[in-house]
Amino acid sequence: MRPLVAGNWKMHGTLREAQALAEGLRGGAERADLLVCPPFVHLQAVEAVLRGGPVAVGAQDCHAKAKGAHTGDVSADMLRDVGATHVILGHSERRADHGETDAVVHAKAGAALAAGLTPVICVGETEAQRLAGEAESVVTEQLAGSIPDGFVAAGGIVAYEPVWAIGTGRTPTEAEVAAIHATMRKALVGRFGEAAKATRLLYGGSVKPSNAAGLFALPDVDGALVGGASLVAADFLAIAAAVPA
Ligand code: PGA
Repeated sequence: MRPLVAGNWKMHGTLREAQALAEGLRGGAERADLLVCPPFVHLQAVEAVLRGGPVAVGAQDCHAKAKGAHTGDVSADMLRDVGATHVILGHSERRADHGETDAVVHAKAGAALAAGLTPVICVGETEAQRLAGEAESVVTEQLAGSIPDGFVAAGGIVAYEPVWAIGTGRTPTEAEVAAIHATMRKALVGRFGEAAKATRLLYGGSVKPSNAAGLFALPDVDGALVGGASLVAADFLAIAAAVPA
């Protein structure tokens, strides 16, 4: 399947910086689909820069409800309305900073699907969990709890992001990534059937131009979710260019 390289811009950048970054990506990449997820406040401007081109635009979160008295929140319908096609859900920073549980992520993913957005659901163990030998069980449990029915049929995407690898420059070994991705594939095929063989499984956590090729060569790694390195257009494009020909 054609890989997806997704950029999670997190809480970075002025409006002008976001527009300039989007301008630098406008041509897309030869061997990968590209997605950028700016902060809510820059979504429309970035979408305007990228409209009609190959690069998709997504958000970093949405609310579980379609509308209502939820001060400070944004619904999936609103995101769809301004041109977003994807939404990252259950990122470990949301799980940690905002206490998002698997049940919350599940509800948000349901709202995203109902609005016609493609959810990118993030899972991943902490360092303590990995050291305790729990990485596979944690990820399997998060998948089971966070992913709603209909996810695979709608083209939902999963990102494996070990918490300890995010923003740290550290990554699991390629064998460790391959093992978790194989476990995720098995769990999804077990629940959703053969269709889940086409579900994109991204790796995220300190992906950079220098390690991307090794990660993309692994079985069941269908792209990357990139944080820090997605803030520099040349680095993000270099990661996308590391997809095997
Ligand atoms: P990083 O972040 O690439 O800066 O490690 C990845 C992520 O949090 O999605």
